Amino acid sequence: KDRAVGIHDLSLATTEFVLPHTALAGYNGTEIGKYHLGIGQRSMSVPAADEDIVTMGAAAAAPIIARHGTDRIRTVLFATESSIDQAKSAGVYVHALLGLPSATRVVELKQACYGATAALQSAVGLVLRDPRQQVLVVASDVSKYDLDSPGEPTQGAAAVAMLVAADPALVRVEEPSGLFTADIMDFWRPNYREAALVDGEASITAYLHAVESAWKDYTEQGGRPLDEFAAFCYHQPFTKMAYKAHRHLLNTCGYDTDEALLQRAVEDTTAYNRVIGNSYTASAYLGLAALLDRADDLTGRPIGFLSYGSGSVAEFFAGTAVPGYRRHLRTAAHQEAIDRRRTLDHAAYRELHERSFPTDGGDHPAPPQTTGPFRLAALRGHKRIYERR
Ligand code: CAA
Repeated sequence: KDRAVGIHDLSLATTEFVLPHTALAGYNGTEIGKYHLGIGQRSMSVPAADEDIVTMGAAAAAPIIARHGTDRIRTVLFATESSIDQAKSAGVYVHALLGLPSATRVVELKQACYGATAALQSAVGLVLRDPRQQVLVVASDVSKYDLDSPGEPTQGAAAVAMLVAADPALVRVEEPSGLFTADIMDFWRPNYREAALVDGEASITAYLHAVESAWKDYTEQGGRPLDEFAAFCYHQPFTKMAYKAHRHLLNTCGYDTDEALLQRAVEDTTAYNRVIGNSYTASAYLGLAALLDRADDLTGRPIGFLSYGSGSVAEFFAGTAVPGYRRHLRTAAHQEAIDRRRTLDHAAYRELHERSFPTDGGDHPAPPQTTGPFRLAALRGHKRIYERR
């Protein structure tokens, strides 16, 4: 049980296209300060017509497979809340695209944006049971709200893949966890809708309540005191939310809100989310990627994770950066995944937003748009056909 288990490798992918918030503001007349400062977003990733959670998930995981091989991977856990099938796990497509061995268990997990944390913690448990095996965790989501709705500027899309293993090269995941569940309707997506429904204000209140509740349980379980943490990776539906959440936690713990302290604890974690937008399950782990890629040496320092999934479930836990972790980072590749996106004009974005495959069971090829490593080639006879480019 004392064996170190955690994140051995981490890699992100995002979309072919990007829409700057200046373009959205130019169209709808919003003062740009509301987007840049009010919610803390600069641009949003937009999937091409031939991209989805599978192509992004496979693109995020492929470099991990290239570095570590497939021999020890016995489980793939795919976390998403923008699922493409009600029965088949998106992870099975990723398993095929990556050429993983047939002797693998694959499953999809869902609880809104919390799903990746459920996957990570389950992976830690599996590795503790058999430290020879590794678990591939993939968190991949397309965040989509109705056009012209308040949620629209918080859209985004990305995937994070993490290899969970014994004696990890990046971050050791610690016990205990602080847990919280409450049956509420702050954000949800009925099966017949592609865009999520949300009660914006209620969702922020619910998130903050979940932060203090998960933290309370964490301390009751014997967790670390707040001032031991070097930084905090919050779920970031928009980056301003991480600041709101940390301010709330500081106040809950009896600290005055010190802006410099707040910046130090959160700012590095927001760099990727600020230009990608909400990536639901991937969001907190994009926060970790940005922190590890950008912060000064964190060796031996505890990092706090607060995962929130509407509906709602939250978990607070700690991870510690392990000696030598900086040698294993993918900082340049992460920046390249962000920088390579092609800028959409606003009309093209709206067209992509409203696009969907006909559901008549015919053969419907997807227009070739992505220059990424994997693409959704067609919907044929109700089956999604993927290919490696
Ligand atoms: N310059 C600077 N700041 C400005 C400004 C300007 N010109 N104009 C407005 N602002 C500020 C406002 O003061 C406000 O700041 P505070 O929150 O600090 O008060 C901020 O910009 C946002 O303004 P509004 O509250 O008026 O914005 P809104 O009502 O149009 O939309 C939102 C905000 C409700 C969060 C909306 O984006 C939304 O519905 N988002 C989707 C739901 C969501 O992300 N919820 C978060 C918690 S739920 C969760 O985390 C799960 C998940 O992933 C969805």
